[in-house]
Amino acid sequence: MRVTVYGTKPYDRRFLDAANRDAGHEVIYFEERLSEHTAILQGDAPAACLFVNDQCDERALEALARQGCRLIALRCAGFNNVDLRAADRLGLKVVRVPAYSPYAVAEHALALILCLNRKIHRAHNRVREGNFALHGLLGFDLHGKTVGIIGTGKIGLLLARTLAAMGCRVLGHDPFPSSEFEQIGAYVDLHEIWKSADVISLHCPLTPDSYHLINSGSIAHMKHGVMIVNTSRGGLIDTEAVIHALKCRQIGHLALDVYEQEADLFFENLSDTIIQDDQFQRLLTFPNVLITGHQAYFTDQALKNIAETTIANLTAFEQGAPLPNEVTADRIK
Ligand code: NAI
Repeated sequence: MRVTVYGTKPYDRRFLDAANRDAGHEVIYFEERLSEHTAILQGDAPAACLFVNDQCDERALEALARQGCRLIALRCAGFNNVDLRAADRLGLKVVRVPAYSPYAVAEHALALILCLNRKIHRAHNRVREGNFALHGLLGFDLHGKTVGIIGTGKIGLLLARTLAAMGCRVLGHDPFPSSEFEQIGAYVDLHEIWKSADVISLHCPLTPDSYHLINSGSIAHMKHGVMIVNTSRGGLIDTEAVIHALKCRQIGHLALDVYEQEADLFFENLSDTIIQDDQFQRLLTFPNVLITGHQAYFTDQALKNIAETTIANLTAFEQGAPLPNEVTADRIK
């Protein structure tokens, strides 16, 4: 089957080509991201392969459908960038890669927590400059601290297990509790997490329900100096509220791998340009903020799994087989 891949990076091509060796799909690569303006690139290919920052809104979907596209194959787990209701109305199926390496993301979240707490990034820079002073590098023992995990699915559970093994008390919040999580932690309501957690790590999808879950109201109920970690989706956090809370030290540490306006920034080398996003630039000025550019998933194992599942999704669709990785509009009702 012919498939157009939008937003292609060299590593996408390498792993997709390897996974497609036996399947034999005709893969056409574009560096452009999908939007209503670039959907013209689709041509007569029946499938479009997208990543997290492709803008798969109603207009882009209509443009794809007009050209005969019938399948959106997401090469990621999150599907908040696809208008599922519009896809449904237009008869387009949407498939994703539900789990490619929850370990990669959970390990990155842990790395952010440890690095930010012990200021490893700042210490590294100091030592390189011959500055061995410790002032400003004071951290805290994670052992004995309370960690709130919001979303105890695959990634949240793995992180919870690791933190529990390190001696943390783990609290979870999820509309669908799991018995595996209950073996290591306790489910509580959100208010209890805000009130008790020293570290809050976000692992739920971005939906209308979870949009700006971290806002001025929820932050006001948190422990003074709380650490917030977001490796899930940028829209879970109201950036303006977080900046205000960092300024008055209500938030003591912030680690982000995702950012609400990341589509204008992440995955590109912008080191020669003037970044226009003032909120993002403000975040970078805080010594207690650590940001990575949506790289939590970026391990060789994860890229291999993403490519293999994407190719399997395409093959299943082409053969009219069941689509176990389909996402439908009722997921967001
Ligand atoms: P999952 O589907 O296994 O788990 C998500 C959990 O969140 C589920 O248990 C669900 O019931 C729960 N949930 C849904 N709405 C909630 C709400 N309002 N409050 C609390 N919990 C809620 O997904 P997985 O694999 O653990 O991924 C979690 C998120 O991580 C994804 O939605 C995605 O946005 C993000 N992600 C980020 C990556 C990165 O590179 N930074 C890579 C992969 C995923």
